[in-house]
Amino acid sequence: MKKIFGLAAGLMCMGLAKADEGMWLPQLLESLNEQRMQQLGMKITAKDIYDINKGSLKDAIVNFGGFCTGEVVSEKGLVLTNHHCGFGSIQRHATLDKNYIRDGFWARNLAEELPNEDLFVTFIVRIDDVSDRVLKGVNLAMEERDRQSMIDRNINELKRTTVLGDFENAFVSPFFEGNKYYLFVTETFKDIRLVGAPPSSIGNFGQDSDNWMWPRHTGDFSVFRIYAGKDNRPAAYSPDNVPYVPKRALTISLQGMKQDDFTMIFGFPGRTSEYLPSEAVRQIVELNDPAKILIRDKALGVMKNYMRADEELKIKYASKYAGISNAWKKWQGEILGLTRTGAVQKKQLYETDFQKRLQASESLYKKYGNVLQELNDVYKEIAPYGLTRDYYLETISKIELFGIINRLRALQAATGKPGYGKEQSAQLEKLTELYKNFSTEVDREIFAALLPVYMEKQQAAYIVPVAKRQFEQYGKDYQRWAAALYDHSIFLDPAKVLDGVRSDPRELYRALETDPTALLVLAMADLYNNEVTPKLNELQARINGLQRKYMQAQTEVLTDKKIYPDANSTMRVGFGKVDGYHPADGVSYGYSTYLDGVMEKYIPGDYEFDVPEKLRRLYMKKDYGRYGVHDASGGYRMPVCFIASNHTTGGNSGSPALDANGNLIGINFDRVWEGTMSDIHYDASICRNIMVDIRYVLFIIDKYAGAGHLLKEMKLAVTGTGNNL
Ligand code: ARG
Ligand code: GLU
Repeated sequence: MKKIFGLAAGLMCMGLAKADEGMWLPQLLESLNEQRMQQLGMKITAKDIYDINKGSLKDAIVNFGGFCTGEVVSEKGLVLTNHHCGFGSIQRHATLDKNYIRDGFWARNLAEELPNEDLFVTFIVRIDDVSDRVLKGVNLAMEERDRQSMIDRNINELKRTTVLGDFENAFVSPFFEGNKYYLFVTETFKDIRLVGAPPSSIGNFGQDSDNWMWPRHTGDFSVFRIYAGKDNRPAAYSPDNVPYVPKRALTISLQGMKQDDFTMIFGFPGRTSEYLPSEAVRQIVELNDPAKILIRDKALGVMKNYMRADEELKIKYASKYAGISNAWKKWQGEILGLTRTGAVQKKQLYETDFQKRLQASESLYKKYGNVLQELNDVYKEIAPYGLTRDYYLETISKIELFGIINRLRALQAATGKPGYGKEQSAQLEKLTELYKNFSTEVDREIFAALLPVYMEKQQAAYIVPVAKRQFEQYGKDYQRWAAALYDHSIFLDPAKVLDGVRSDPRELYRALETDPTALLVLAMADLYNNEVTPKLNELQARINGLQRKYMQAQTEVLTDKKIYPDANSTMRVGFGKVDGYHPADGVSYGYSTYLDGVMEKYIPGDYEFDVPEKLRRLYMKKDYGRYGVHDASGGYRMPVCFIASNHTTGGNSGSPALDANGNLIGINFDRVWEGTMSDIHYDASICRNIMVDIRYVLFIIDKYAGAGHLLKEMKLAVTGTGNNL
């Protein structure tokens, strides 16, 4: 059972794999993908990408802060990532008179580089297949829970006995739905300093209107530096630390790219679900995505109105708005793509084919004959609970008054327990942060906009009696209901709440039993935790077991298909080619954009499409230095972004885009609207990742920011002008 995903799979027919789909394991590239990658134009070998015995490209790739990817580009530990990945750091250092968000930031020397308390980067030292040891003693007859505790025990034992160097850590992750396990040995650096960032009008040009869209014109990058102790080992922040000398820094190419050029993306994709059965995909399209979108529609609508009218509210809600709208917009693209490509029907066809081939083998049929049917059936069973979960979680997470109350209850629950002090300071910090960017009026309107959805859409059995009672009490008028709850609540008095948490929370705890909002929220939480969560957990455990069996079955039945594991925030390589796409009949997109396009979108003074004066001047003078390109018709232009068919997802932000020689040609930051469904169903015809062209990054650093000293640290493969022809 355990050998199936090994080398043998790699030798299986290459041709049938859908071109370009997949997030592959770097340690298996040699056996699974090298041939195909070279066929697509790659000039280097799999060993150049990942090698445990000597330096390889992987030594230049970092997990950036646990949520993004970064790449080392100099012998002094310089790291590139996205503007939106560095945004937290940029924001934390910004003040009204040092407005790094609006104006950008550039350290002129090492001394000016800014430390960031919680930021870290992690290198992967090596990846080992530990499936045999982790799955020791596990058998098919086991209950999910027993299986998991045996696995946990094996993993603990494995970690205990793994020999680690100083500063190294290890973790074990499941792959292929738990059919395989890999051990990752890592090295984490904790003194990471902000070196530079463009103004938001470049780094987030187009903001939410352009987010998830192509054609795109965003210079979505920022620059950091890894610092180490004098011995070049990881060290906590100290002014005495020095720039880290990496094992490997990427070489940068100014050559640019042309149609069909090979590209690859090296990074840490977060989560995908590529092996769901048709019923699960149907539910995402018809139930879950629409429910979540509907609630976010309402919440965003309220925020937008206030943000448009009030500059202070705009600042307070900007980051929340961006977060809520990012997934909201992605889900809409996802529905569109899944529908247009007929993903549910394609899954059904795939399942019919699978079933037919299964029947051809008596032994396989005996083992797996029912797995698909069972899996689709459990998904049908979980549907109502999943929908209840979505309505509940989306609602309570968008109404911040609910959040305040839930935090206080969590603190109360920790009373007298050993971790109380820690819980207290954590909640104090979270609540302080929350009130800083909070408006009672906006939150009240969000309540009044969301409760109707909750009352009308949530299944009757999961609407708490308190809600029904209050609704009646206030004349079935949501505004009156909202006013009644928000006009007198102690939880909307930041001083009282923060003081209470700090010293004596008794008054707050009394209010948890009398305040009408508290009565409502706590009843909602109890109902959900008691009636919905256990059911979800039970069904999800069955689904997990069946998905694992289905995955195993696919590898045994569809032996001509190369299978990659779903993303799980571990290091992966995706590859594809530079390519435009046709999103709809009569519509065709090219693969690259230019500064001319920034100027076409320019709206003076607009909060999304303003262009800094200096950039306009550089454009007027065509002062592009060595970064511009000459085209066939004698034009001279500055490339900005490009797209390719690499399979990426959230977490791949900041990932290096590498060319056929393994040189850096761009930084990944997004996907195209029509193709965001690649998390569930990749379709080579419309799924594209979006990268900022490295020439634009260097142009901004050099010509716009005047930080040319940083370029001197970097290694350029080809100087002189490339072209996009
Ligand atoms: N859509 C990209 C991602 O998922 C970029 C998000 C940041 N940009 C924005 N305009 N909100 O992270
Ligand atoms: N913007 C995403 C991120 O932050 C990458 C885009 C995607 O989801 O593909 O990771």
